[in-house]
Amino acid sequence: MANLYDEIYKKSINDPEAFWGEIAEDCHWYKKWDKVLDDSNKPFYRWFTGGEINTCYNALDLHVDNGIGSNNALIYDSPVTGTQKKYTFLELRDETARFAGVLAEKGVKKGDRVILYMPMIPEAVIAMLACARIGAIHSVVFGGFAANELATRIDDAKPKVIVSASCGVEVKKVIPYKPLLDKAIDIAEAKPESCIIFQRDMEKADLVQDRDYDWSELMRDAVPHDCVPVKATDPLYILYTSGTTGQPKGVVRDNGGHVVALKWTMNAIYGMEQGDVYWAASDIGWVVGHSYIVYAPLFKGCTTILYEGKPVGTPDAGAFWRVISEHKVKALFTAPTAFRAIKQQDHKAEMMKGYDLSHFTHLFLAGERTDPDTLSWAENSLNVPVIDHWWQTETGWAIAANCVGIHRFEVKPGSPTKAVPGWDVQVVDPQSNPVPRGEIGAIVVKLPLPPGTLPTLWQNDERYIESYLEEFPGYYKTADAGYIDEEDYIFVMTRTDDIINVAGHRLSTGAMEEVISEHPDVAECAVMGIHDELKGQVPVGLVVLNAGVTKEKQDIVKEVVRMVRDKIGPVAAFKTATVVKRLPKTRSGKVLRGTMRSMADQKEFKTPATIDDPAILDEIRESLEEIGLGKNN
Ligand code: COA
Ligand code: AMP
Repeated sequence: MANLYDEIYKKSINDPEAFWGEIAEDCHWYKKWDKVLDDSNKPFYRWFTGGEINTCYNALDLHVDNGIGSNNALIYDSPVTGTQKKYTFLELRDETARFAGVLAEKGVKKGDRVILYMPMIPEAVIAMLACARIGAIHSVVFGGFAANELATRIDDAKPKVIVSASCGVEVKKVIPYKPLLDKAIDIAEAKPESCIIFQRDMEKADLVQDRDYDWSELMRDAVPHDCVPVKATDPLYILYTSGTTGQPKGVVRDNGGHVVALKWTMNAIYGMEQGDVYWAASDIGWVVGHSYIVYAPLFKGCTTILYEGKPVGTPDAGAFWRVISEHKVKALFTAPTAFRAIKQQDHKAEMMKGYDLSHFTHLFLAGERTDPDTLSWAENSLNVPVIDHWWQTETGWAIAANCVGIHRFEVKPGSPTKAVPGWDVQVVDPQSNPVPRGEIGAIVVKLPLPPGTLPTLWQNDERYIESYLEEFPGYYKTADAGYIDEEDYIFVMTRTDDIINVAGHRLSTGAMEEVISEHPDVAECAVMGIHDELKGQVPVGLVVLNAGVTKEKQDIVKEVVRMVRDKIGPVAAFKTATVVKRLPKTRSGKVLRGTMRSMADQKEFKTPATIDDPAILDEIRESLEEIGLGKNN
């Protein structure tokens, strides 16, 4: 039987211009677009060409002008520092306008880049919105990345200004950010003209004269800056994400399509109305943080929660229930790993007792596949629908979801349900032919992608085409594999590249291999993501040493672990490696990572017919057993 979803979905695919054109009317435009979808330069599609808009205006000023300026826009809840602070739309608008004035005074203009290396504090959100206000392009770098990763991003984005804070707080540890920033600027070839540092009480950073400025001092004399109209197609931000090499990909997001699509998703996917309280428990360094801590809830006039804490340990596994009850949260969005962490510590959900969760209507999970165990635990404990949805940094919003604001379908465990309107999702074979229902293949999306997705990679059209458009002509390659069943439910099973998913964080095993290979005693290495009960996957390294190396193997292992932590960052969670005599390879020299992973995960596997020397697998098995992996094979 046809339902509203079928109707909306069909319209979005058959007549995208009419579909998105109508939705765009809900946003504030200085100048209406000439064309909803501009396909004059295929395969580069642009949305709302000719239109002029301001993202910050749509997030803040619009609500003040519409009379809801006294509603809460942002609630900062920080169990790690024991603070809470609320900002109304009016207060957040004013703070943002002042910081926009600070940036302008430091010479930042429309199109200039500003890197933000910030913990989860309101100033991070203010800085993002202030960039948007003056048409500058922000690039937020996650705090868990090391100086080297920050330097790579500085060299690619070439920011005029970097905004940072003196420190982050990880549970009970204070992590000084400034030394990492200084080191990154030292390593990078591109140097920012100035750095603006927010000094937190628990750690004061030394400031470099004539380069570093104190956030609070600059704000004291700041002149508020108004919103600057930008083209719908001008970039709003660059967000770097892991590719298959050490060089991350600079995903670009433009202004117009992003406002239109994200505002629409708040009701269509998440069932939110203006005034509702919405909480994405992620980090502003990830796409989930960009889209659903900062932009989408504010576009919709919702209150967003900025949570500086963890699901467990800050102070306990009841933290999420406290926040939901205290701030009357209607929907929570987080990664399944957060629920696995809670479940591990409070299996019977005892800590939920005593909290009033009566306002809470939905739990949304993404970042990795929701395993059926976690799904049923969350459903049974919370007694609300638990919605898995699938998306990527590149897409900016969900490709597949159970769109509760349109029509809530029955959940099939292991599936993020169906394609969201706007997404023509197909499963194909290597020749781009559709595979039969139920059969696994590459998951691709027929071009054009909907608004709010990546138009290209930062100053790298070639890499954009090569990474996403070349392999399946006419389609966007998601690099995920899976299948679609008879009822159009999508099942996302695995990545088709060397990306792994560690606690919902996307990481490149190739990048880790590049770091390990720099060790003078290492001849070659392979990093693979193996199953982990809590984090979903964790990286494990297999290292082959140069001939004649006499150093203790354990020392080399410690050194490579340290190198990955220092060069990529603690977020990589690279803690395990072992020395092996040789790596198993095909006769053409391709390392058989899949086979080794199956071995480590105690999954059944067939010895590949193309293997160069099957005896190597026995050696690998022994080495894995030495570090406690793959024991039952
Ligand atoms: N700044 C500095 N360091 C950071 C950091 C930050 N913003 N975020 C994480 N780190 C560090 C941690 O301190 C930890 O360091 P350690 O090796 O010294 O212990 C390391 O990076 C790994 O952190 P994390 O991935 O958070 O693992 P964890 O073991 O501390 O916690 C979970 C595990 C499951 C509780 C945690 O990953 C979590 O809350 N995940 C929620 C999901 C999420 O936010 N996903 C994002 C996409 S939706
Ligand atoms: P990121 O770009 O960090 O958001 O990571 C995107 C990748 O995470 C996707 O390509 C998938 O491999 C994985 N992913 C995200 N959400 C889901 C989900 N709901 N189900 C399965 N995999 C997911």
